[in-house]
Amino acid sequence: MNTEAFNYRDTGKILSKGNVTWKSPSNIALIKYWGKSGLQLPKNASLSFTLNASSTSTTLEFRPVDNVVNTPEFEVYVDTEKTDVFKPKIAVFFDRIKNYVPFITDYKYSIFTKNTFPHSSGIASSASGMSALALCVMEMEKKLNPSITEDYFYKKASFLARLGSGSAARSVKGSIVVWGVHEAIPDSSDLYGIGFPFPIHPVFKNFHDTILLVDKGQKPVSSSLGHNLMENHPYAASRFVQATDNLHKLSIVLQKGLLKEFIEIVESEALSLHAMMMTSNPYFILMQPNTLAIINKIWQFRKETNTHVCFTLDAGANVHVLFPDDEKTEINDFINNELLPYCQNNQYICDNIGTGSTSISQRS
Ligand code: DP6
Repeated sequence: MNTEAFNYRDTGKILSKGNVTWKSPSNIALIKYWGKSGLQLPKNASLSFTLNASSTSTTLEFRPVDNVVNTPEFEVYVDTEKTDVFKPKIAVFFDRIKNYVPFITDYKYSIFTKNTFPHSSGIASSASGMSALALCVMEMEKKLNPSITEDYFYKKASFLARLGSGSAARSVKGSIVVWGVHEAIPDSSDLYGIGFPFPIHPVFKNFHDTILLVDKGQKPVSSSLGHNLMENHPYAASRFVQATDNLHKLSIVLQKGLLKEFIEIVESEALSLHAMMMTSNPYFILMQPNTLAIINKIWQFRKETNTHVCFTLDAGANVHVLFPDDEKTEINDFINNELLPYCQNNQYICDNIGTGSTSISQRS
């Protein structure tokens, strides 16, 4: 599919005042997207677990306008409080998507959004937030053109979400999503995420991700800036080859249930991501001393117990502790007794692999 496939077929209809609501999860990349080109196109394919508990719910209230404008007018409420913080990012999003959903300029909007995770948790809300908003826009398209198929609906939602934030392309569906062309993944695309197309070994069903909140502050370097620093990066070309190889291997691991190999790939990806940051120009470090302390504790515990706990990191200091469901009792004890002291105010989020977004408006 190319971008033209997502052009809008005008029905000449205008919706009267109404609203749509979607809940969309966050996701954690196991194979990392770090480096992009063009309009939000990834330099390598990435793969993520869709999360379950960490999500954003967004209501998009639309009112038809008399005079169509270039960029739609909108206001944003987070947890019922009006805020302008997210307006620039959403304005860019509307601008990027309007060629594909030109009807959006026929309305003005109030956007009501809330996250299940705390604002200041350091967890990026852009993946869940942008995908929830993209799904709301797609529900408007569906109201205007009820004949669009479910497959088209979700593909285009992921396509639009990507234009808001790359990783958001992976938040529309569950439970494992690939975004970016990869030769081992049939029908994979740089334009949108697809569900992992092979049967997943039962050991990964209900896999856990306990997110340890090491540093809840604002990140010193944004993801967007970090992606840009991959241009002219001395190790960029080999990093993209490494990610592609790792996805190849992980695809087999996920099908065969090879936990030892899973750990090696996932931890290597996390550390390679941060190695790219440390070797950028300018260089930067997002890990904190407690990030490293937790990693060392995990390695020590794994060696002593032969359990299959491992970690991954996103673009920040927080640690995602990953483990299979049948080891949860022992590993939860370990987290509570040995890792929580390294978290800011002992804060953490218990999450697990999830099934993707849901429409709330359809049920009400
Ligand atoms: C380290 O999706 O936040 O989490 O496309 O600029 O919005 P933009 O970047 P973003 O980058 C995510 C980076 C990452 C890895 C990943 O999720 O694959």
